[in-house]
Amino acid sequence: MFNKNTVAAGVAAFASVALAAGCAVADGNKADDVDITAMSAEELAEHLIFETNSWRDQEMQEGGGWRDRMTQDDIQKACSFDSTRNDLDGETAGQVVALAREQYEAPEGDIELGDWRQGAVLADSGYGYRIGHNTDDHGTREAGGNCYNCHVMDSSVSVQGTIGPNLENYGAQRGDSQEIRQYVHQVISNPHQYFPCTQMPRFQGLLTEEQISHIMAYLLDPESPVNNR
Ligand code: HEC
Repeated sequence: MFNKNTVAAGVAAFASVALAAGCAVADGNKADDVDITAMSAEELAEHLIFETNSWRDQEMQEGGGWRDRMTQDDIQKACSFDSTRNDLDGETAGQVVALAREQYEAPEGDIELGDWRQGAVLADSGYGYRIGHNTDDHGTREAGGNCYNCHVMDSSVSVQGTIGPNLENYGAQRGDSQEIRQYVHQVISNPHQYFPCTQMPRFQGLLTEEQISHIMAYLLDPESPVNNR
């Protein structure tokens, strides 16, 4: 697909040829070939968003692009019910839990905790996965977990969200047995296994296993400030 800037730069040279040949200059303009009156509301919305000249796909440094980000997977589709009229029903919840268990990849053997200091930085960082003109450069900075956007963890950190539960003293209250580590790994990796249609993101694939181990240390290590509040 033509990038608009490329088209603009090349347009002076190409316009006369393209117009003489009767072809559209920008390949994004397919409006002539489609009958929008035959479309359902969803199809029309998809068409307007993705197929008209207003749309320009852009890449993310992490791989993929805008379009991938806006394409729902099975869990997102199942969870996209109208919450004003229809709460999560038992059948959908069951499906979502099953899908999440299928997606989840358990680590082999015992789960080791990483370094809580690195976990603190990752939990506080919302860097990464931006789309648009201001893409990320992981040559200088890795993607973070953005946990503070939704959770209180160490209450001395100034900005903390309240969408999710307060996680202060999380490990101090639960210990850090293998069972607890497995549970926390499952929740961070794919929380729909326990909380179907939760707002919490699935971090497996967004963060590396090493990053997850650092964040788990931040939550569970007795030395971590999270457990000394
Ligand atoms: C967009 C908001 C959001 C973000 C970001 C988020 N969470 Fe959550 N988290 C939630 C919500 C909401 C719940 C409660 C589950 C529910 O009811 O949906 C939750 C639950 C949890 C739980 C389970 C608590 C329990 O009862 O055992 C843990 C652990 C957790 N989050 C850790 C994290 C960590 C670590 C990060 C960052 C890597 C993170 N969360 C990022 C929203 C978020």
